[in-house]
Amino acid sequence: MCGIIGYTGGAWALPVLVEGLRTLEYRGYDSAGVALMDTDDGSPVVRVAKHSGKLANLEEALRERPLPGSTGLGHTRWATHGVPNDRNAHPHTDDSGRLALVHNGIIENYTQLREELSDRGHGFRSDTDTEVVACLVADRYRGELAAAVREAMCRVRGAFAIAAVHADEPGTIVACRREAPLVIGCMDGASLLASDVAGLVAHTRDVEALLDDQVATLTPNGVTVTDLGGAPAQGHRYRVDWDVDAAEKQGYPHFMLKEIHEQPQAVRDTLIGRTDADGRLVLDELRCDPDELRHVDKVYVVACGTSYHAGLVAKYAIEHWAGVPVEAEIASEFRYRDPILSSHTLVVTISQSGETADTLAAASHARDQQARVVAVTNVVGSSLAREADAVVYTRAGPEIAVASTKAFTTQIVALDVLALYLAQARRALFPDECRDHLARMEALPALLEQVLKQEGELAELAAGSFADAGYVMFVGRHVGLPIALEGALKLKEISYVHAEGFPAGEMKHGPIALIDAGGPVVALATRGHVHGKLLSNIQEVKARGAVVLAVATEGDTAIDAHADHVVYVPEVHELLYPLLTVVPLQLLGYHMAVRLDRDVDQPRNLAKTVTVE
Ligand code: AGP
Repeated sequence: MCGIIGYTGGAWALPVLVEGLRTLEYRGYDSAGVALMDTDDGSPVVRVAKHSGKLANLEEALRERPLPGSTGLGHTRWATHGVPNDRNAHPHTDDSGRLALVHNGIIENYTQLREELSDRGHGFRSDTDTEVVACLVADRYRGELAAAVREAMCRVRGAFAIAAVHADEPGTIVACRREAPLVIGCMDGASLLASDVAGLVAHTRDVEALLDDQVATLTPNGVTVTDLGGAPAQGHRYRVDWDVDAAEKQGYPHFMLKEIHEQPQAVRDTLIGRTDADGRLVLDELRCDPDELRHVDKVYVVACGTSYHAGLVAKYAIEHWAGVPVEAEIASEFRYRDPILSSHTLVVTISQSGETADTLAAASHARDQQARVVAVTNVVGSSLAREADAVVYTRAGPEIAVASTKAFTTQIVALDVLALYLAQARRALFPDECRDHLARMEALPALLEQVLKQEGELAELAAGSFADAGYVMFVGRHVGLPIALEGALKLKEISYVHAEGFPAGEMKHGPIALIDAGGPVVALATRGHVHGKLLSNIQEVKARGAVVLAVATEGDTAIDAHADHVVYVPEVHELLYPLLTVVPLQLLGYHMAVRLDRDVDQPRNLAKTVTVE
């Protein structure tokens, strides 16, 4: 997720661009850059300034060398292709330097386009998919930027929001979007665009959100919108009543709730580009030879906290699909014991930040034992990405809230794709079987949207049966167990209410002693081969006075007779339920914390990244 800003009008563009980037920095902060249209000896030129690191680095450079001009683009980056450095920072120009372009999204067919453009004599200086788009638009340019953008974006597959300028068209910005947001606004003698309204509200509250495959041409005199065929079109026009702070949260009261609701798009983005033209699974950033994977005889999944819970889910998927034994380990334990590893051991380390000290140490410990280390991380170029032999990136975008939500679900997706890739490499599954499972995963974003619509029910429970809970027990079996653990962690870390997750089969071995009249129990009871056992476990706690919230499969009427409250999720393959069942628990924890007036985004005693032991 990146931040884009554009301005064309009568004033100097630079102050507007920098201020806009400041409000959009929460969307990405790996690097930042601007492109300004100016003249040199009377000839129109495009000047670019861009720097890796925080926006402050760019601002310092611009203080030393301001860029004049009344038309320009700005970009703050969250890397998905190409590590964060000056070379990969946006804006990107074509070979001639006369066209500059910024981009938010993921281009699925950029490798193929890059090869085609190389064959046509274009050269590339960065590792990004964005530079390919800049060259593609330049390659199609015949004197009208809007026409070149329309023609070029018809060739592009994936999610994108782009904006471009060309030296031959002073005062003009052309923008286009598909599955990534772009809003435009006008004011007296100027037009603006931004990735979201946070970049516009300081100038105008009357905005127009472009719709998929629409192209906007901005000039100081106004904006025209067409479809990709050039026919007139109109986006969604509305008036913004948020302030800037609310706009950064897209109108949500907390980043955590915003990020819970971003999960459908984050999962969709994480699944983009996972198959080649023949439909075989590809993990282009996984620099692991399939032959090597064929000889893997043991997998360890190692992480901390919520990432560890994602690893627990992966254990079931890898064992079931790839047929390889898996051990899931807490990183702070793994690093201090003597695991028996070899060159046939695959150690999968999971970390949203890629900077967690224990997980980094575990990766290093594994490499010392000659194991192959794969990192699953959300941050391109993070320490873990550099430490590992190979990487699979989640594409959740920046996760601001300390409590991890969208990173968790995208980790499960990335790990499931890795499990299928292992299965494909080991011929444990046929390619079409892998494709079928991937197709089921690609249907998940729409199902997540359905589950999110039940937020009201969870808020009611937080204010009702769970309102005064001093302790909440979460129970599950099989893939329900990691979600029971994650639901407990979510609740305790943001509401400070004590909560524990247990294997439901363990209740009789001690934990059931905790149950008394009115004690809330959350049971993960979706359909599957352990469903009947869960019903029995629910009856056990009900018989002792517990109040039970069950997370069940739509259409499961049997559960109604046993649970006091039921939240339903759509029926999916048994191994995919965690991606849906965690959402009601995220929402329950969130609303209980809000009701208790907790600092939801920055809970006490916690940090977003634990870079020390
Ligand atoms: C999750 O809600 C917590 N914030 C915490 O457990 C987190 O998952 C853990 O610290 C690991 O962080 P990482 O994924 O960045 O390594």
